[in-house]
Amino acid sequence: MSNSNVRTCPSDPIPEYAFIGRSNVGKSSLINMLMQKKSLAKTSGRPGKTQLINHFRINDNWFLVDLPGYGYARVSKRDKKTFQKYITDYFKERVQLVCAFVLIDIRHEPQKVDLEFLEWMGENQIPFALIFTKADKLKPQVIQKQADKYINALLDGIWEDAPQYFITSSSNNLGREEVLEFIGGINDE
Ligand code: GTP
Ligand code: MG
Repeated sequence: MSNSNVRTCPSDPIPEYAFIGRSNVGKSSLINMLMQKKSLAKTSGRPGKTQLINHFRINDNWFLVDLPGYGYARVSKRDKKTFQKYITDYFKERVQLVCAFVLIDIRHEPQKVDLEFLEWMGENQIPFALIFTKADKLKPQVIQKQADKYINALLDGIWEDAPQYFITSSSNNLGREEVLEFIGGINDE
C-alpha cells in the first residue's frame, strides 16, 4: 500500500519498521535483500525513486516501510518540502513504529544532513538503529574501521551512547541475518 499522507496509512495495530536515509543510499534495495525478492520495492540508480510511504505487510504480522529519501538537491524545492513534511509527520504520528532504520552509505564521511536528521530523531524520541549500506564497495579490511569512525564521530557530537548499528550489503546479503534477528527479537517480545 502506498500513501502520501500518514493519515491514510494502514490502521492495523501491528509492529512496523521503517527505512529512511538520503536518496540513493539503498533503502529499497535493502528491503528487497531482506525479503529476498528482487523487485518488491522499486529501486533505481537515479536518486528520488521512492516518493511515497510504502507499506509491505510481512507474514501478516508486521510491516516494512519504504520511505522517500531526504537530502537530494535535484528535486524541486517544493517537492523537497513535501518529502520533509510527510516524512516528519510519519515519524511523529505513526504509533505502530517500533524502530526506524536510518541508512548511511558506509563509504561516506558523516554528512550534515544525516547528522541533523539523527538529531531530529533524538529530539523527538523516535527509536532508531543505524544501517551502514553498500559495504561491498569497500575492501573487507576497512569496512569495520569505517563504521567505527562514523560511530566515534557521533560520540564526539551530541550522542552520549553509540546507537545499535548493522553493516550491510544488498549485493552480497551481508548483515541480512543480523537485521532480521533484531526485528524478530523485538516482534517476539
Ligand atoms: P530513493 O528511493 O531514490 O531515495 O533511493 P533508495 O535509498 O531507495 O536507493 P535504491 O535502493 O533505489 O538504490 C540506489 C542505487 O544504489 C541503485 O543503483 C542500487 O542498485 C544501488 N545499491 C543499493 N544498495 C547497494 C549495495 O548494497 N551495494 C551496491 N553495490 N549498490 C547498491
Ligand atoms: Mg527507494
